[in-house]
Amino acid sequence: MIDKRLFRLPGTKKLLLMLAGLTLLQAFVVLFQGKYLAEALVNSWEQKSLQTIIYPMALFAVAFVLRHLFNLINTKIVENYASKTSEDIRSMLLDKVYQAGPEMISEEGTGNLVTSSLDGIDLVENYFKLIFTKLMNMSIIPPVLLIYIYTQNVASGITLTIIVPLVILFMIILGLAAQSKADAQYKQYTILSNHFLDALRGLPTLKMLGLSKRYAKNIYTVSDEYRRRTMNTLRIAILSTFALDWLTTLGIAILAVFLGLGLINNSFPLFPALVTLILAPEYFLPLRDFSNDYHATLNGKNALNSIFEILERSSKSEANELKDFSWKQDSQIEINNLQFTYKGAGNNAVSLDIDKLKLSGYQRIGVIGKSGSGKTTLIRSIGGFLVPDQADIKINHQEVSNFKQINWQKKLTFLPQSPYLFAGTIAENIAFYRPDASIKEIKKAASAAGLNDFIDILSDGYQTKIGEGGRGISGGQQQRIMLARAFLADDRHILIFDEPTAHLDIETEYALKKPMEELFKNHLVIFATHRLHWIKEMDYVVVMDNGQIVEQGTPENLSNHNGAYSQLIKNMRGDQL
Ligand SMILES: Nc1ncnc2c1ncn2[C@@H]1O[C@H](COP(=O)(O)OP(=O)(O)OP(=O)(O)O)[C@@H](O)[C@H]1O
Ligand SMILES: [Mg+2]
Repeated sequence: MIDKRLFRLPGTKKLLLMLAGLTLLQAFVVLFQGKYLAEALVNSWEQKSLQTIIYPMALFAVAFVLRHLFNLINTKIVENYASKTSEDIRSMLLDKVYQAGPEMISEEGTGNLVTSSLDGIDLVENYFKLIFTKLMNMSIIPPVLLIYIYTQNVASGITLTIIVPLVILFMIILGLAAQSKADAQYKQYTILSNHFLDALRGLPTLKMLGLSKRYAKNIYTVSDEYRRRTMNTLRIAILSTFALDWLTTLGIAILAVFLGLGLINNSFPLFPALVTLILAPEYFLPLRDFSNDYHATLNGKNALNSIFEILERSSKSEANELKDFSWKQDSQIEINNLQFTYKGAGNNAVSLDIDKLKLSGYQRIGVIGKSGSGKTTLIRSIGGFLVPDQADIKINHQEVSNFKQINWQKKLTFLPQSPYLFAGTIAENIAFYRPDASIKEIKKAASAAGLNDFIDILSDGYQTKIGEGGRGISGGQQQRIMLARAFLADDRHILIFDEPTAHLDIETEYALKKPMEELFKNHLVIFATHRLHWIKEMDYVVVMDNGQIVEQGTPENLSNHNGAYSQLIKNMRGDQL
């Protein structure tokens, strides 16, 4: 009913203690409310003096006001806790996502993470608001009332005691059914949001290929399945509310008949009968309340569960092993015995297995190999986006186990195949690695990247806003912005490129070549590429196949014997003819 991990959240124990105290007070005022109302009614029935009626009525009114006051305080405390804690959970979740990086995002799915951190947190907040109060009410108010009822009339006490296990049994049976339905519902919800977001991202491609209609059908099917599961869950939830209402009403009716008969037979006085009858609905109220909102709490509980699962994922966090260093002509990196396997890849699948690789000074290193040979995986491991399962790495003689190091990432510039621009101005996007750069420096970097002609014709110049993902800017211009970033980050002497020109046309690629060569100077360059003309620019070439380096050396040396390199070059020539 309640997740034990909740108690680990800050403030939960304190909240529970405060709620327990408040609920106990509430139980007593509910009791007094019933008691004084019964007393006033009995006194007026027995036509006693006005004072004996007004006095309990006044006390009843005080109890009534106090009850609602306590309720208000209770709600306020819980709401404060809920909004603060869910905000904390949201930032913990986002921290985790940022810390774990793209590896986790691709495994969990963007849609799932978006659902968890937006709607999921709202559901969790609602869960917090409901679960603590309802549980506390259910475990404190009925026992207090029951003890009092026993003191008034043992038989009524026994009747009420017998009905409760029946109610609870029903609650458990229906609750379990609702739980499994709600689990399925939440799973479907996650699938729906992943599908929706993926479709949205791929919409331009789908439209271009004329597949958007088919995809719309797919989304329709997935959302219809979600609708069906929601209705299934609601059916059970409504059935359970109905069953409990019916059972408790029946319980009160039986009690009323039984008390009425007792009064007719004069076997007991009016007051205990009346107070029992007034308190009986109050006795069942917390149970009914709990079951009414059970469905709403289930969704929150599932959302919380999936958030906890993400939070508990072991993440190889950014280490701090590597001390600050600077990359110079005589710097070097040695990578020995690096192995990496994608999670979810089949058994025995090793995605990357690097025996030996040395990178030094301001070398230009080309990484080549056919598609799927592991170029991106190697590049991403060196960039610190993927953490190898094992590796012996020495950076400037410092031993580290991976490249996910703060001091390493401060030294490199990464150019992926598809650049990512953020919503903001062109100037902000260029100043990505150095947000403090002056506009003069930004302009200089932009001109080095060959961007000035393009920016000059924009009416807002450097302050032109570009959409998220570079909307409104051509692929070549986006890559130029990425290059300008690298030019501006002149304290970063390591460039990592993953086929940055692969999706550009030949003319654009050639236009970019000059600024790129300029950038290569005084940099260690690691460059994954499919294009022959880039290989000619390289000092050293690493040939990959099946996750391994099958050949490495200078292009001249490699072309002298008929190995993997020569074969690959032959194939590339064939491709380009
Ligand atoms: N996220 C992933 N999960 C599981 N396997 C993956 C993942 N990404 C890549 N792989 C697998 O790892 C191997 C190496 O892929 P990688 O992307 O590094 O190749 P590549 O040489 O960059 O290919 P390309 O030239 O097409 O970009 C391939 O067998 C690929 O299927
Ligand atoms: Mg690749």
